[in-house]
Amino acid sequence: MATPHIEAKKGEIAKTVLMPGDPLRAKFIAETFLENVKQFNQVRGMLGFTGTYKGREISVMGHGMGQPSVGIYSYELFKFYDVENIVRIGSCGAYSEDLDLYDVIIVEDAYSESSFAKVQCNEERDVLEPSQELTSRLEGIANDLNIPYKKGRIHSSDVFYSEDFKRFERLRDEKDCIAVEMESFALFNNANVLGKNAACVLTVSDHLVTHEETSSSERQTAFTKMMEIALELAE
Ligand code: HPA
Repeated sequence: MATPHIEAKKGEIAKTVLMPGDPLRAKFIAETFLENVKQFNQVRGMLGFTGTYKGREISVMGHGMGQPSVGIYSYELFKFYDVENIVRIGSCGAYSEDLDLYDVIIVEDAYSESSFAKVQCNEERDVLEPSQELTSRLEGIANDLNIPYKKGRIHSSDVFYSEDFKRFERLRDEKDCIAVEMESFALFNNANVLGKNAACVLTVSDHLVTHEETSSSERQTAFTKMMEIALELAE
């Protein structure tokens, strides 16, 4: 059984899947943290792996950039592979001065001006929530591991390079968004419409106020705190 974008056989993907945007980060997580690793996908280079973490099963797979891409992969995992939980583990740009590079954010909800949810299932809301249960489990794990985190609303943007350089101030001041990424809104929509669970943990990789940024090699390896939180969901 395969889908247009995933070649795994049924049963090769765990109930819980961690999804970074970058498939090479998925490979890094599998190689660094998992045992008994089996690769289940390489279609379009969107690498996916299943393994064990502290003896418990979990999968990790890239979801690409933007809502259309995460929309495809999360839909196929939920609908055709019986995946129950997807946790996006991604990077974000800080809108708020209260955030620093490498801060961990557990997403409270996602605002978007995207038409994704409207087109996908006539969802009219522009703020979508993750699974409360999955999110509070992630918060409990972060507390147990003594990993500090911030909780807040994030902006799921369809545009990375905007000519409107002050746009982020409006999203921060009028919509209460503390940071920006490009996928959570579509992921939360798909979980809602399919009766599944999604959540999101982010690490700040760049700052729209101070203009500080991290390099792509730092991003691939330095986000271990976020990964360690999410990996504890293995079962
Ligand atoms: N914008 C959008 N998505 C992002 C950013 C950003 O600045 N940083 C990390 N993901």
